[in-house]
Amino acid sequence: MRDGFGREITYLRMSVTELCNLRCRYCMPAEGVHKRRHEEMLTQEETLLALRVAAELGMRKLRITGGEPLVKRNIVAICEGAAMIPGIEEIGLTTNGTLLPKLAKPLKEAGVSRLNISLDTLDEKKYAWMTRLGSLDMALKGIEAALEAGFARVKLNAVLIGGFNDDEIRPLAQLSARWPVDVRFIELMPMPDGAPFGPEAYIPCDRVVEALPELEPLPGGDGVARLYRLPGGQGRVGLISPLSDNFCGWCNRLRLTADGRVKPCLHSPAEFSIKGLDREGMRRQFLAACAAKPEQHPLLSYAHRSAANRSMNRIGG
Ligand code: 5AD
Ligand code: SF4
Repeated sequence: MRDGFGREITYLRMSVTELCNLRCRYCMPAEGVHKRRHEEMLTQEETLLALRVAAELGMRKLRITGGEPLVKRNIVAICEGAAMIPGIEEIGLTTNGTLLPKLAKPLKEAGVSRLNISLDTLDEKKYAWMTRLGSLDMALKGIEAALEAGFARVKLNAVLIGGFNDDEIRPLAQLSARWPVDVRFIELMPMPDGAPFGPEAYIPCDRVVEALPELEPLPGGDGVARLYRLPGGQGRVGLISPLSDNFCGWCNRLRLTADGRVKPCLHSPAEFSIKGLDREGMRRQFLAACAAKPEQHPLLSYAHRSAANRSMNRIGG
């Protein structure tokens, strides 16, 4: 599947639920989301049919997101079903990690090959403040469970927030020396529903390079991440800069929300519903979403908010 700008679309990011056991300030309102009616969301059968259609259209890589995908009751069954679809070569999952002690092993056995785990701070009080409901200890236990279950190249995602964790760049990056994990710093995106962070919260990833002058740049990149290594590090340090470095030119993704909307771009309100459709109907909507991919999203900054029509937990992080 090629879009109107010649980009080959091979990567589907699929949210399986809008719900989460945490309430991170940059992602969700404090009161959470009102639970939607069951009938509005994709069923397991529809989800797997959509994945089959997407694979037939050339999707090779799948990432499962939420909300928090591990609060979904049938998450292991969904992963198992996805792993059996011909054409899907790799299944990754993005999680806050807190439920991994129970689920890391079953997910690995189901065919999930990559885990991205959110970890924005190593300070217990700050973690509790940012996530409103979580404890750092639960997240760290989750990371250990992922490594014990044998996941290779676990990635830890830290959203870089001025005044919150910009004084923790070094200890966070050093996790790539302590564990065989990649630590990735992500610029805070101004999502419409995000918490009221001031302009000082939006700091560029270059701040990481300034804080860690010994970082060695690595050739190539990993998707949208620029890669570095700390001397002696087991894993790598990645920088993801949606604000300071527009990477739309090599965007290869479509998104599918838990309520069955195919989204051409994270930062656009455009969506194409596949809820209740048969195979052919779904195919048409995927193709329409692909054709509607914009060349790039407008500049993002504190002053220029994302034009997305949903909060992050309702799109998929
Ligand atoms: N800016 C940047 N990243 C975000 N995420 C969620 N909201 C935002 C935002 N406003 C990403 C984080 C988190 C994942 C689930 O989604 O990386 O770890
Ligand atoms: Fe939940 Fe992840 Fe959003 Fe935090 S960022 S509220 S863990 S979905």
